[in-house]
Amino acid sequence: MAYAHITGWGMFVPEKILTNDDLSKMVDTNDEWIRSRTGIRERRIANEEQSSASLATEAAIRALDVANLKPTELDLIIVSSSSPEHIFPSTASLVQDRIGATKAGAFDLSAACTGFIYALDMGAQAIRSGSVRNVLVVGTETLSRFVDWTDRNTCILFGDGSGAFVLQADEKPGGVLSSVLHSDGSGGDLLTLPAGGSRFPATTATVQDGLHFIQMDGKGVFRFATRVMARATKEALEKAGLGLEDLDLVVPHQANMRIIDAAARGLKLPMEKFMVNLDRYGNTSTASIPIATVEAFEGGRLKAGDTVVFVGFGAGLTWGALAAEWSGPRPVERRVRHGWYLLFARVRSMILRVMRIIEGMLWGRFGR
Ligand code: ACO
Repeated sequence: MAYAHITGWGMFVPEKILTNDDLSKMVDTNDEWIRSRTGIRERRIANEEQSSASLATEAAIRALDVANLKPTELDLIIVSSSSPEHIFPSTASLVQDRIGATKAGAFDLSAACTGFIYALDMGAQAIRSGSVRNVLVVGTETLSRFVDWTDRNTCILFGDGSGAFVLQADEKPGGVLSSVLHSDGSGGDLLTLPAGGSRFPATTATVQDGLHFIQMDGKGVFRFATRVMARATKEALEKAGLGLEDLDLVVPHQANMRIIDAAARGLKLPMEKFMVNLDRYGNTSTASIPIATVEAFEGGRLKAGDTVVFVGFGAGLTWGALAAEWSGPRPVERRVRHGWYLLFARVRSMILRVMRIIEGMLWGRFGR
């Protein structure tokens, strides 16, 4: 039987920083309120050239570099995002093309801020079933494009960024141990981006009514989140046959410091067991867990053999948790040169596009 090990991780955030003081010049708010109610000090905002796919590509390359895996060896790419590049094509397909993952299948997954846990679980299941060996899982967001910058209830919360894991099959036990996924669609209206889908396609009226912006009942989401975080963490541990005493680190979805505090109290665990970096990035939705994991590893808080639980909640409503034994970096014999693969990917993509044009011309002349 194959186990799904986390062998690569990477993150990428835009350079531009938006501080609480910057926000206080845009809406009626202040640094003290935002810090005390959320724990957020600043967040990153994508520039005009950046998008969910471009951030995802950067994070993916970093994760492949850590795993020392060629993009051409990937079997599957799963991108979770609440701010995908388009409704279709999938952001995953765009990433597949940009990194040159020539043999990988690719699809997007939508489970809001819980998306990365859903995606990790799907990737791990695909490995365990024996159908694939190497999977890239990415959480990527440019939610700044869907925020109403005049709405102080929401615009203070969100930031842009991307995080990625590489999952690889190994016969050695470890890696992803268990997961629990939940949904309660009766709470769908608590957090929604109403228009732009089939229910409310874009019209002048949907734009005028602000229906293409995030709408949120903050208190409702807060109550739901504090209820489910501790419970899901315990469920995932129990399913893995572990207890709280086995837990080395919890990497929670980074939405609000008070929600993470409540989870720690619910689990009767000290805050040192929780990775927190929302002060610098805000809520990056489905990217928050991989970004926090990368920083936990780089800060020496996650070592090979550690038991870690990733736990999240979000729109849907959705929530879930995944327990894993952290595999740590694999020994490297010969470094893969990702720069060459990126160049190859760009040339390949261009040739395929040109061939499609030539094919179209020939088809017009000789086809039918
Ligand atoms: N600055 C200053 N004052 C503000 C601001 C602001 N940015 N926002 C609200 N206020 C005011 C309100 O108007 C209210 O004033 P009033 O008492 O005079 O009416 C007061 O501050 C308290 O407002 P609340 O909404 O009660 O503030 P609360 O403590 O609930 O915090 C918050 C609001 C931060 C949004 C909180 O409810 C929260 O974090 N909820 C969870 C949100 C979340 O995690 N969403 C993401 C989910 S993940 C996903 O799927 C994308």
